[in-house]
Amino acid sequence: MLVTLKEVLGDAQKGRYAVGAFNVNNMEIVQAIIEAAEEQQSPVILQASQGGLKYAGVDYIAAMARLAGEKASVPVVVHLDHGTDFKQIMLCVRNGFTSVMIDGSKYPLEENIEVTKKVVEVAHAVGMSVEGELGKIGGVEDDVKVDEREAAMTDPADAEYFAKETGVDALAISIGTAHGLYKGEPRLDFDRLKNIRAVVDVPLVLHGASGVSDEAIKKAVELGICKINIDTDIRQAFTRGVHAAVKENPDEFDPRKILGPARDEMKNIVATKLKLFGSAGKA
Ligand code: G3H
Ligand code: ZN
Repeated sequence: MLVTLKEVLGDAQKGRYAVGAFNVNNMEIVQAIIEAAEEQQSPVILQASQGGLKYAGVDYIAAMARLAGEKASVPVVVHLDHGTDFKQIMLCVRNGFTSVMIDGSKYPLEENIEVTKKVVEVAHAVGMSVEGELGKIGGVEDDVKVDEREAAMTDPADAEYFAKETGVDALAISIGTAHGLYKGEPRLDFDRLKNIRAVVDVPLVLHGASGVSDEAIKKAVELGICKINIDTDIRQAFTRGVHAAVKENPDEFDPRKILGPARDEMKNIVATKLKLFGSAGKA
């Protein structure tokens, strides 16, 4: 069934687990995530980035994800990931997404509040949820100096102010994770997470969670993370599946025989994450 972000994250916050948000770009990815969620009886978030929408088309992604959600026996959210453009966010509203993210993290605090508030006003008027972002979640940041790393992280007092001013339903925070592949072991600032949680009531979101250790993920969930974003792990599973299929039968030219194993590989990864996040059995 199709649901909003606010609904699933409200339950997650009460139940002290996190819901996985997985990036989708094509049919096989959507099916892999939904099959895993149904098998695990878990709520799930299908999300598309602006790059994903450009690749597949906002109407294609929305139609596929909505169909998957309508057919599914578990709660499914159709969410825009890292939206930065008001017009594109409105296109998602029009195409039936059930929630959107407005990422105003590149702006100074007051400007971020301003752009986020505008989206919240429109989205809430039509019953959709909104995720905002405060603090910068960069790319791989091994070469970033300590003071720069600190400066990019979310300030607890700013987070409290931002959540109150904007009325967002979820807040993405920066506590040391980064998008993409890590060169070393990511170091999460759990004290910062604790301090943010102490003053912010809305569910908190962890981005860049691929490659973060199981222990760190578990601790983050214990400390109040309710939504966990995974993209790179799925990309790698997809590519692993394709490589293995082609290696096993180099003469194969039926796309179904190549994409089928990739779908299975992604499904396994998603199932593992749903168990780790504690959402399995919570649908
Ligand atoms: O918004 C998407 C995520 O934060 C994914 O990050 O590719 O590092 O898993 P990841
Ligand atoms: Zn992200």
